[in-house]
Amino acid sequence: MLLLKLRERLLSLGFFEFHRLFSQFALLTKSNCYNGSIPFWSFNNNMTKEFILTMKEQLLDLAKKRRSIYALGRNVDQTPDEIASLIKENIKWAPTPFNNQTTRAVILFGANHEKLWDIVAKRLKSEVPTEEAYQKTLNKINGFKAAFGTVMFYTDTDVVRRFENDFALYADNFADWSEQAQGNAQFAVWTSLAENGIGANLQHYNPLIDDEVREAFGIPAHWNLRAQLDFGSIEGPAGEKEFMDDADRFKVLK
Ligand SMILES: Cc1cc2nc3c(=O)[nH]c(=O)nc-3n(C[C@H](O)[C@H](O)[C@H](O)COP(=O)(O)O)c2cc1C
Repeated sequence: MLLLKLRERLLSLGFFEFHRLFSQFALLTKSNCYNGSIPFWSFNNNMTKEFILTMKEQLLDLAKKRRSIYALGRNVDQTPDEIASLIKENIKWAPTPFNNQTTRAVILFGANHEKLWDIVAKRLKSEVPTEEAYQKTLNKINGFKAAFGTVMFYTDTDVVRRFENDFALYADNFADWSEQAQGNAQFAVWTSLAENGIGANLQHYNPLIDDEVREAFGIPAHWNLRAQLDFGSIEGPAGEKEFMDDADRFKVLK
């Protein structure tokens, strides 16, 4: 009874509207001090219906924050150890089929990061037709080299083979699934770096560089290089992102 009276009094003071606005504001500002959970008094209250139906979008906000950033630098607040730890945790928590954990990562900083991009530059020399074109390529690669570090994503092909043998029914899937697992891991790492104000872009100089990189960094022969995520401080904005029509892309069947 007392609670009902209190609720009526708060209603008359517009408290619930304030509560709703505040919680939306907290979500917008990504404040951690208020988690937007539904309070007991908001049930059966039409005024807060909109709030009850509001989906949490913190992860979506972070997904929007993750963009391809090409102007990268070394003005990063975090230490290499902190960044490496974040990357490792993200890869460990990304899902893999049968939890087979096929994704591997080599995280490069400092001279090792620079060495990778020197290898790419050297390797591309013979691939690019003219000196003029090579200069353009070199400028691009020097941009990657100017970043703070690179994650090289690998797939352990021994594990993929083992699962193909052990689970014959799904044998045809494990190669595809290892690629999908790569996507999970890469997206998680990329987004988590973005959350921490670190920009990144995703490159694919594999398989051109595979042999030189394997030798330079002592990579096991059964690790297959899948991508290079170049990361660092954000020195310039991402480009505009265009989207195809939702109608051509999604079907929602109710
Ligand atoms: C599987 C995959 C491969 C990609 N390969 C490259 C690449 O080789 N070089 C590059 O600059 N960007 C690459 N990207 C980045 C995309 O071009 C980029 O994500 C896309 O244009 C959307 O832009 P956004 O990342 O800013 O949202 C790749 C992205 C994915 C998911």
